[in-house]
Amino acid sequence: MPRELPERGGLQWPRVGATLVPHLEVRMEIDRRAFIASLGGAAAVAAMDHEAKADALEHYMEEQLDEAVASQQQGGGEKYPTVAELEAQIETRNYRRGAGNLLVNTRGNVKKLEPMPAKPTLEDFFRLRFAPANHVLQSATRAMKTGMSEEIVLACLLHDTVNNLIKPDHGWWGAQLYEPYVPEKTSFAIRYHQTLRFFPDEQAGYEYPESYFRTFGHDYVPPPYIQDTYKMLKNHRWYMEPRLVTVNDLYSFDPNAKVSIEPFLDIIGRHFKQPKEGLGFDNSPSAHMWRTIARPDSPL
Ligand SMILES: [Fe+2]
Ligand SMILES: [Fe+2]
Repeated sequence: MPRELPERGGLQWPRVGATLVPHLEVRMEIDRRAFIASLGGAAAVAAMDHEAKADALEHYMEEQLDEAVASQQQGGGEKYPTVAELEAQIETRNYRRGAGNLLVNTRGNVKKLEPMPAKPTLEDFFRLRFAPANHVLQSATRAMKTGMSEEIVLACLLHDTVNNLIKPDHGWWGAQLYEPYVPEKTSFAIRYHQTLRFFPDEQAGYEYPESYFRTFGHDYVPPPYIQDTYKMLKNHRWYMEPRLVTVNDLYSFDPNAKVSIEPFLDIIGRHFKQPKEGLGFDNSPSAHMWRTIARPDSPL
């Protein structure tokens, strides 16, 4: 039965996907695509040895089982957690959900990273620190196919890459990281896609992502600063720039999609101001962030 969502500070609640599906029975079927996607895509899985794959599968099944049992304990109620249930999980982990994948591996030990070249480029960071980067490559591929401007294709390519370092407020962190090197519209789109993804826009073809009921809780209400930012954006002349990033954002992965950075090298060449000293060594306001991404094993 469709369920009413609570008041959202006068703002529009997602209308699409807001129906919570009753959970009928505990099933332990493995969704292969979701499993592969959870590991970072087919290429990442191919790079794992047999033991690592077995560990990952076991871990994945345990998580699925925990979720299914928790759902049954709620009287076979909703499939999605509440904000309070997600909060109750905090002390069951030895990491925080906001830590980027370069800092924490939630499924086992971290791997030794290949050192960066002396004067690293954006492409080097994609290859050595953001890989497999499937999500952003798929978003940018879609943006290119749907005829977006080059600034927006670039924004899609970069929009979630800072998540490898840190996840909370990744729109703001990401925009700050890229601001010295990209067109203003690109950093604007990166900064504000984080806000707009919470607010559906039927005309633009953006629905509230169903996966957010799981990630944030089905009764989640974005905090006041996000709602204020949304109000500001609604009247902004560049509203469509971050909106188009959300439209081309993908909330499900196709692990078989073959994506690479190749098709975007021309756009990077035209719009990304690669510093001759290398990213991290040009004394820009975000140089330290690039160095941190380059050396996440540094103890201080
Ligand atoms: Fe994002
Ligand atoms: Fe995204």
